Amino acid sequence: MKKIIVTGGTGYIGSHVVVNLIEKGYAPIVIDNLSNSEKSVIEGIEKISDQKLDFYEVDICDEAGIQKVFDKHNDCLGVIHFAALKAVGESLEQPIKYYHNNITGLINIIQAMDRNNISNLIFSSSCTVYGQPEKLPVTESTPFLAPTSPYGHTKQLGEQIIENYIKANDSQHAISLRYFNPIGAHESALIGELPIGIPNNLMPYITQTAIGLRDCLNVFGNDYNTHDGTAIRDYIHVTDLADAHTLAMEKLLDRTSQKRYDYYNLGVGKGQSVLDVIHSFERSTGESLNYKIVDRRPGDAEAIYANTEKANTELGWQAQYTLDDMTSSAWRWQLALAERLKF
Ligand code: NAD
Ligand code: UFG
Repeated sequence: MKKIIVTGGTGYIGSHVVVNLIEKGYAPIVIDNLSNSEKSVIEGIEKISDQKLDFYEVDICDEAGIQKVFDKHNDCLGVIHFAALKAVGESLEQPIKYYHNNITGLINIIQAMDRNNISNLIFSSSCTVYGQPEKLPVTESTPFLAPTSPYGHTKQLGEQIIENYIKANDSQHAISLRYFNPIGAHESALIGELPIGIPNNLMPYITQTAIGLRDCLNVFGNDYNTHDGTAIRDYIHVTDLADAHTLAMEKLLDRTSQKRYDYYNLGVGKGQSVLDVIHSFERSTGESLNYKIVDRRPGDAEAIYANTEKANTELGWQAQYTLDDMTSSAWRWQLALAERLKF
């Protein structure tokens, strides 16, 4: 059994990675406290993979609880650590909650690995570590800017904690993956993004507006210095992102790298504006979207997109899906949710 412990494995990205790991012959051991996901995700994963999922409802801040799971599965090959709180706005209002969950949680995971001689760690980082960079596209050597939110700070700190831990421990290996903007859902429409309450992010706000749960999408600003005035991001299909995790774990496992700690940008490498995403959604689904232009959202970067060469060459990974694939899969997932929840 090629076991991999996955924290946050019932979350949006984690659930897609769990499916990918199973497809590639690994046996994921999933830990989640279900603070931002639902038990129904387990059913979705089990349906897609046609097998039972090894799931533990444990909080990563519960040191004893985490150690128990790691002690039981100390024969695992490595750990993929997704579990974190991720709402930028909430982190500004409740910073300590974010530092506690994301930093104490990470330290507990590292300590549980250490105690059990588990040596391969993948960490979910974010392009937010770069802030609004002066030069685009962003490479991995683009410097970190001062964090604009406690959430972003936990990602910078998380990377630094891991780097220092790896430096001090010769047998340990880790990779941080800096995600740009993951959207879309699994082709089966059995798993996808499940925002709790009113979504903050663009894609779920679009699909909830199109299905009638929200009246109108607010487009935050059309006076940016971009091709159509709206802000630019590097949207990446969550299925492509998932694939990169398995490849990154395999890179750690095969020990061919000179570096025991490394980090990679994961994006498509293309900047797309808010209006590009809206037009793609309308084109790929045949739905028309009710939207209006409003003021900029405070704290938003004007434009950010990735140079993905390092991941392409060193992980042997390349994003496959187009923006239309992303928006249409997000819509199929929204339709499936509506059917299931009867709204
Ligand atoms: P998500 O909220 O859907 O998944 C995170 C999962 O972690 C949830 O299931 C939640 O219940 C769980 N979790 C949170 N705190 C926990 C705790 N204390 N103990 C156990 N489980 C806990 O988020 P996601 O979008 O799948 O993000 C996964 C990771 O990727 C996070 O670390 C996030 O910061 C990072 N990330 C996400 C994005 C994005 O746009 N979605 C971008 C960059 C980085
Ligand atoms: N947007 C709108 N209307 C909305 C929501 C978003 O116009 O209702 C715009 C935003 O202004 C931005 C773009 O759509 O220009 C994307 O916004 P998202 O909120 O979807 O994503 P962000 O790039 O702001 O943030 C995401 C994650 C954060 C993470 C950040 C960098 O949500 O957790 O990427 O990694 F910190």
